[in-house]
Amino acid sequence: MAKTCTSVHLAACWSHQQKQVILVDADRNRSATAYGARGLLPFPTVPIEAAAKATRSAEIVITDGQASSNEEEMKNLVEGADCIVLPTTTQSRSVELTVEMSQMLRQYKVPYAALLVKVDARKEAAAMQAKDLLQRFDIKVLIAQIPLLSAFEQAETEGVTVDQAIDKRGRANPLRMMGWTAYSAACKEIEGIFEVLRKQDQRQSPIGWDFTPIEKRNAA
Ligand SMILES: Nc1ncnc2c1ncn2[C@@H]1O[C@H](COP(=O)(O)OP(=O)(O)OP(=O)(O)O)[C@@H](O)[C@H]1O
Ligand SMILES: [Mg+2]
Repeated sequence: MAKTCTSVHLAACWSHQQKQVILVDADRNRSATAYGARGLLPFPTVPIEAAAKATRSAEIVITDGQASSNEEEMKNLVEGADCIVLPTTTQSRSVELTVEMSQMLRQYKVPYAALLVKVDARKEAAAMQAKDLLQRFDIKVLIAQIPLLSAFEQAETEGVTVDQAIDKRGRANPLRMMGWTAYSAACKEIEGIFEVLRKQDQRQSPIGWDFTPIEKRNAA
């Protein structure tokens, strides 16, 4: 479903904005850690067990979850987050999973949004259909869509982000920037969600306390 790919690229986008970002690997398979193992990503990745200290100085903490979390793990992840992104492919099984997940998430106050990933440019209709279906279930779907590109796989093999993807012969992938631009647009939209939340919070709070988005708030 491109969860790890999405975590890596959102983290990279915010790092490029000079924000202190940490990626927390909450997947027992440690795929995010493996992605960054060559040390070529512009942010550190830490396993969830080491998150307490490592995230202390971070402005933005992104957690890469796993497909099959148990209920308690899920509850903890949700309650510890400011916003949840649900990467969803256009396949019906993936859309169903996101619908199921959103029904579970509704009991919490945490905002969430679906992000369509691996969108095949030759199958525009499938993307429209998936988006339609999600919206019918009252799920916010980001306008940004992540295209299906071989550049993403090439980038993962090299341990870099998609903007640096090279093919087997060492040549820059001609479509790599499409992937990067798409994730940058998703980042902007997520920032927008936070801006709205921040304004709502200020209205509700008589003293107008400073609500800092996704920021790690004085964790242990
Ligand atoms: N937009 C894309 N286009 C093409 N390939 C992609 C795209 N996004 C991710 N991939 C590739 O798809 C595969 C699965 O992606 P990823 O590991 O991010 O999924 P995941 O949801 O984290 O999987 P898991 O459930 O195993 O943790 C990887 O090989 C990745 O490089
Ligand atoms: Mg993963």
